[in-house]
Amino acid sequence: MPNKIQAIRGMHDILPERSALWQHLEEKARNLLDRYGYRELRTPLVEVTELFKRSIGEVTDIVEKEMYSFADRGGDKLALRPEGTASCVRAAIEHGLLEQPQRLWYCGPMFRRERPQRGRYRQFHQIGVEVFGLEGPDIDLELILMTRQFWRMLGLDNLRLEINSLGDAHERALYRDDLSAYLSSHSERLDGDSLKRLSTNPLRVLDSKNPAMQQLIADAPSLLDCLGEATRTHFTNLCSGLDSAGIPYQINQRLVRGLDYYNRTVFEWISDDLGAQGTVCAGGRYDGLVSQLGGRPTPAVGFAMGLERLIELIDPGHIDSGPDAYLVAVGERAQAAAPLLADRLREQMPKLRLLCHCGGGSFKSQFKKADRSGSQIALVLGDAELDQNSVGLKPLRHDGEQRTVAFEALHEILPRILAERGSETSASESSIGEAGIRAE
Ligand code: HAM
Repeated sequence: MPNKIQAIRGMHDILPERSALWQHLEEKARNLLDRYGYRELRTPLVEVTELFKRSIGEVTDIVEKEMYSFADRGGDKLALRPEGTASCVRAAIEHGLLEQPQRLWYCGPMFRRERPQRGRYRQFHQIGVEVFGLEGPDIDLELILMTRQFWRMLGLDNLRLEINSLGDAHERALYRDDLSAYLSSHSERLDGDSLKRLSTNPLRVLDSKNPAMQQLIADAPSLLDCLGEATRTHFTNLCSGLDSAGIPYQINQRLVRGLDYYNRTVFEWISDDLGAQGTVCAGGRYDGLVSQLGGRPTPAVGFAMGLERLIELIDPGHIDSGPDAYLVAVGERAQAAAPLLADRLREQMPKLRLLCHCGGGSFKSQFKKADRSGSQIALVLGDAELDQNSVGLKPLRHDGEQRTVAFEALHEILPRILAERGSETSASESSIGEAGIRAE
């Protein structure tokens, strides 16, 4: 037997029994984003490597260690996108979208060659939002309010918000000097990674998870002390907006983010139910990135949510993935007519989820399949029923006798029964005519 080929480590199939959950999440997000006036931008999965180097930063884990980069057959240096912000900025500049403010969103897979573990994958999915052309703290607040609204829609009440301000570039440069001096004076307490970061990107030392360094990090000088008037006001205005909205938050001065493009506001929503990888949503301002990538200076802010992590938090109990009804067809003529009847019913009831049995088999075995499908109702079509333009209707999840219902009454009766069971199905005006269904 030939070897079986398996998926790449850290890259997962989403199987049919889980995909309803994904669709549920994505649909809710689309609905939310639409209501807030955000429009979708779809960008390629592959970009020139240079884009990510110039935006995320050369001295970051993502660019140094995690990018899937390669030369294509023409020798161009390309990379699978590790995140969506850089691509959005590239596209917005390229297509002249930045003449006016833009509220954009995207959804799709991202790629980072990290060490796979719970909540950390090599292909993972994000829904992200990027806003261009708005510089005040009001838009930062809108993004946080929108995410809070999303948690409510998903029934997630256990997420906490951490925020920080990274200041503007010159404020960060001042802080960098202070921090480097402090860290250098304690270099014997730094691990190898942090020693390297000390000369290249000292702020990233604050992000270290090494338990031996936590006290050193806790005693480090504070970035908030280096903020100037304008940045400080921006941050306090955001904080009072959060207070007015009744959103609890913690100011975490060690929140520096792993990507270099941020300035001023940064934030993360964190769950304590996911183990070490608890951040489900993260973002902030990046007012310098558009000009850094060749566009006119344009303020910008955004965030991205990790869908695998959110999926883990959603209670799958609420998501119903089975059909509403399962059409059982026994007998040669009934079997041939069943797909036609099913099609007519779907036309009449556009929201009806109807699975039509194919492939024949005994009544018993078809009924078993109907039951296993999770369907609420079995519709039974035999040759005798066909002759009378009717079906047998049997509730599967609740008590109830099988009864005979005329084809033409189904569009009234089915939605009523399903509504009683909590399924949403709409009836339409028309009914199946006297002519009924006949196999050709
Ligand atoms: P990020 O913090 O790198 O930010 O990723 C955002 C979210 O994506 C994380 O909070 C997490 O939920 C999820 N995520 C990241 N890496 C993985 C992974 N390996 N496996 C599973 N989930 C993961 C960004 O990507 C920025 N582009 C966010 C942003 C948008 N900032 C401004 N605009």
